Amino acid sequence: MTDTNIFPIYDRMMTREDKERLLHQRGLMIWFTGLSGSGKSTIALGVERELHQRGLLCRILDGDNIRSGINAGLGFSAEDRRENIRRIAEVGKLFVDTGVVTLAAFVSPTNEYRQLARDIIGAEDFIEVYVSTPLEECERRDVKGLYARARRGEVKEFTGISAPFEVPEHPALCLDTSVLPLQESVRRVVELIERKSH
Ligand code: ADX
Repeated sequence: MTDTNIFPIYDRMMTREDKERLLHQRGLMIWFTGLSGSGKSTIALGVERELHQRGLLCRILDGDNIRSGINAGLGFSAEDRRENIRRIAEVGKLFVDTGVVTLAAFVSPTNEYRQLARDIIGAEDFIEVYVSTPLEECERRDVKGLYARARRGEVKEFTGISAPFEVPEHPALCLDTSVLPLQESVRRVVELIERKSH
């Protein structure tokens, strides 16, 4: 079998445009990046709830559902983080190509990983949102107790403590949850999506 035997199958599939017409919406990837505990997932949950009420079909991808499922077995070395992000972007692309507003909430700590995700998904469908809550605030919250453990050296290569986080260069939005109320962060993301998703 050669590749030429495979293409006709794709040719007969319903297209992304067919699906977007069915859903009356446009597929998009909202890519949240920021430190652990910065508020990425919390904002994504609020955005999903709001958009769902407005009749938009959404899908959240976040660390807990991905790292315990498709990416079980990947750790936090630079190599594993890159593979984590690559697979998330590939899965995310399937949702975007189905017309779904997809919300990815991952630390994605370097410009290289975020660029990789953008390249896989396509720049026109990719909106980067930097949840810029400062390290001191994330550490003060320490919802999962991981910062304390990282300070004691019990968690290696912890982002912000013993592994790097590069500030995104040109995010579409920057949200510092230490000064913005949750509803305001949600409102800003929803507004951005509403402008692009119909
Ligand atoms: S990423 O760097 O590969 O994008 P991802 O978002 O999937 O990270 O997972 C980050 C979550 O895993 C954190 O919110 C935290 O709960 C947990 N975690 C466990 N170990 C680490 C670590 N060494 N560095 C960062 N996060 C970690």
